[in-house]
Amino acid sequence: MVLKLPWLTVCRKIKGIITYNSTYPMMDRLSLLDRVAVITGSSSGIGEATARLFSKRGAKITIHGRSEEKLEEVKLMLLQNGSTSEEVHTVTGDITDPAVREKMVEETVQKFGCIDILVNNAGGGGQAGFLRDVTEDQMDFAFNVYLKAPVLLSKLCLPYLVKRKGNIINVSGITATEVWPGAFPYNSFAKAGLDNFTKFAAAEFGQAGVRVNCVRPGVVVTPSFNAAFPDSSVREQFLSSCAKRTLLDFNGAPEDVAEIIAFYASDAAKFLTGDFTCADGGRSINCNHGETMPQPNYDDFLT
Ligand SMILES: NC(=O)c1ccc[n+]([C@@H]2O[C@H](COP(=O)([O-])OP(=O)(O)OC[C@H]3O[C@@H](n4cnc5c(N)ncnc54)[C@H](OP(=O)(O)O)[C@@H]3O)[C@@H](O)[C@H]2O)c1
Repeated sequence: MVLKLPWLTVCRKIKGIITYNSTYPMMDRLSLLDRVAVITGSSSGIGEATARLFSKRGAKITIHGRSEEKLEEVKLMLLQNGSTSEEVHTVTGDITDPAVREKMVEETVQKFGCIDILVNNAGGGGQAGFLRDVTEDQMDFAFNVYLKAPVLLSKLCLPYLVKRKGNIINVSGITATEVWPGAFPYNSFAKAGLDNFTKFAAAEFGQAGVRVNCVRPGVVVTPSFNAAFPDSSVREQFLSSCAKRTLLDFNGAPEDVAEIIAFYASDAAKFLTGDFTCADGGRSINCNHGETMPQPNYDDFLT
């Protein structure tokens, strides 16, 4: 193990140098070599998968979450991925706390010298229910976690992003635009606001060369998703009906969303801003809610 880490790091660096140098025609514009990223909510689920992928592509990362224990586990994974301990920083605390957001920015700049990428991802699970029962606390929670925190953290990062012509990726959700009565309606209001913030920020920050994009996951199997369905048979039944609502017949994994976030973060997406990707297997364009329709058969193409 002790011998393995430096080798992974060396291989990753060599690969990054060979594939990223812009004078080479074979350059890998997906590389994140030496980019500095802040990923909120990266102790679990989509944020964790994003941190792992960023690490593989060479980024220096500030990982964040409320659970110190989970963050330490993720840090270990990144070190096994090839990151060195100088390339990973951890910040613990609630994203709604202004002091935590300030710490995230200040310590990242202190440790790495700059910020190239901000991924506003923290959140997960939360407040499912019906509008007729909504409480003031639930509305405050949704607003504070899913909208106020990303907006204010983006503002804090902006001076550094401008210096580096960096970018922001907001993690929204398909329920920002598609209504799903009874399922996460309060978060959805805030996510709709986050979508709108993406457009405003893209318009304003674009003048300074800072891109702002947004990923809207559909159903992605993460710890918070599983926690929302403690009864595993109910969960399996729900997941199976969700898979049928996609056009591809399966639900997402955190890694599927991470790939899109990493794409937006990279130079491969340098002409994209104010852009939205529904990472949902086609669910949000499918107006078939389980009705039986004739299906074409493609078996003859396989022979
Ligand atoms: N999974 C889906 O189907 C789905 C669909 C649409 C959108 N999304 C969005 O994707 C994002 C990630 O969700 P996920 O499913 O990956 O959830 P997850 O597995 O539960 O991970 C959530 C992450 O956010 C952190 N977090 C949650 N609330 C926080 C708070 N108040 N302050 C600081 N950190 C906080 C958690 O940290 P700790 O655990 O350490 O507290 C964890 O690192 C969320 O914004 C969610 O709305 C998910």
